[in-house]
Amino acid sequence: MKKVYVGMAADYLHVGHINIINEAAKYGEIIIGLLTDEAIASYKRVPVTTYEQRKKVIENIKGVAKVVPQYTLDYVENLRQLKPEYVVHGDDWKDSSQRYTRQRVIEALKEWGGELIEPQYTKGISSTLLIETQKQVGVTPEHRRKMLRKLINLKPIVRVIEAHSGLSAIVAEKTKVKGEEFDAIWESSFTDSSSKGKPDIELVDFTSRVRTINEILEVTTKPLIVDGDTGGPIDHFAYMVKTLERLGVSAIIVEDKVFPKQNSLLENAEHRQETTERFCQKIKVGKHARVTRDFMIIARIESLILGESVEHALMRADAYIRAGADGIMIHSKDRSPAEILKFCAEYNKHGYTVPLVVVPTTYNTILEQELIDVNVSVVIYANHLMRSSYKAMLETAKMILSTKRGLEAESKCIGIQEFFKVIDT
Ligand code: SPV
Ligand code: MG
Repeated sequence: MKKVYVGMAADYLHVGHINIINEAAKYGEIIIGLLTDEAIASYKRVPVTTYEQRKKVIENIKGVAKVVPQYTLDYVENLRQLKPEYVVHGDDWKDSSQRYTRQRVIEALKEWGGELIEPQYTKGISSTLLIETQKQVGVTPEHRRKMLRKLINLKPIVRVIEAHSGLSAIVAEKTKVKGEEFDAIWESSFTDSSSKGKPDIELVDFTSRVRTINEILEVTTKPLIVDGDTGGPIDHFAYMVKTLERLGVSAIIVEDKVFPKQNSLLENAEHRQETTERFCQKIKVGKHARVTRDFMIIARIESLILGESVEHALMRADAYIRAGADGIMIHSKDRSPAEILKFCAEYNKHGYTVPLVVVPTTYNTILEQELIDVNVSVVIYANHLMRSSYKAMLETAKMILSTKRGLEAESKCIGIQEFFKVIDT
């Protein structure tokens, strides 16, 4: 019996999968290379069902002889081991982001004279389509809340972008470039405040922040991380945690400064750091207030912002982790990533399992891969949608003033009909 290898995620099983399996069965005995959760997350999204659940389903499909794990999107390792006579895959991958994966399969098969069979892709159905349909139905708070921890466990790095309104949240939710997209949304105190024309000094109160948060939740399905500023007085913080968790927010990041704080990037600001003891107490109260393990309380260390040393920041990290922090955000306003990289290297030496979060606004030359290399779990692009929209608005306003009509400004604007579509879908 000849061996036929079929790689698949088999998360949302549909008629397209069955067509491929039926086609593959014509060539011999089918071995399914079932993509692991990490492998799926690396190129699409977090799977809805676990590897074990997917395995149970797929091994019970008629014609499937064996299921083996495929640990990466790349087939080559499994193929070299199994040396199948055939690999079967729908012809849709020729023009997709999987082109390169396909090429590698063809090259590997040449080594033992194997052949790639590409049956016509079943039109009108795909897991991506099913997911899009489901997204339109929406997401429950429970489901959304869980997503951040899942992403942290499965992705090399969780990529987060700021939103401060329903519209900016739509950009965060939907923008895709060559299959890449943002994994989650940051509800920033800086951009929520500045979109209201207010300074970032904890002046926009929590009730107002919750309105913005709801605006974002209403039009998105991705997980949300909320910037909790200092968390206010300790007993207020408990309410904050409960409210956000109930809404389906996945995490709050609370910073170790004294209320009312100023923005960490503001030049000549007078920052005051909370004592380690009081901040640990705040973390403990927050942990006690939350209902599910899914909701994360992430401690933000401002030592470097205040000009303290990396050692100072590390001592804070240690204390906050002992107090129960579910994550550590280390912030810096330096233009060089050196101090952040040093912090990460030292942090890793301690062997902490608590995920690290960074906000590379000033040290913006750093690449995501460099952050992955030092074990950073979450990267937040914290204010870019707000700053870029202001710049665009200003240019448009100036254009109208200088031309005394709307025509020239049009080139800076999205067309009205096109914009209706952005909002409608
Ligand atoms: C925010 O986005 O509000 C932040 C990050 O807290 S920073 O502006 O860099 O302090
Ligand atoms: Mg903030």
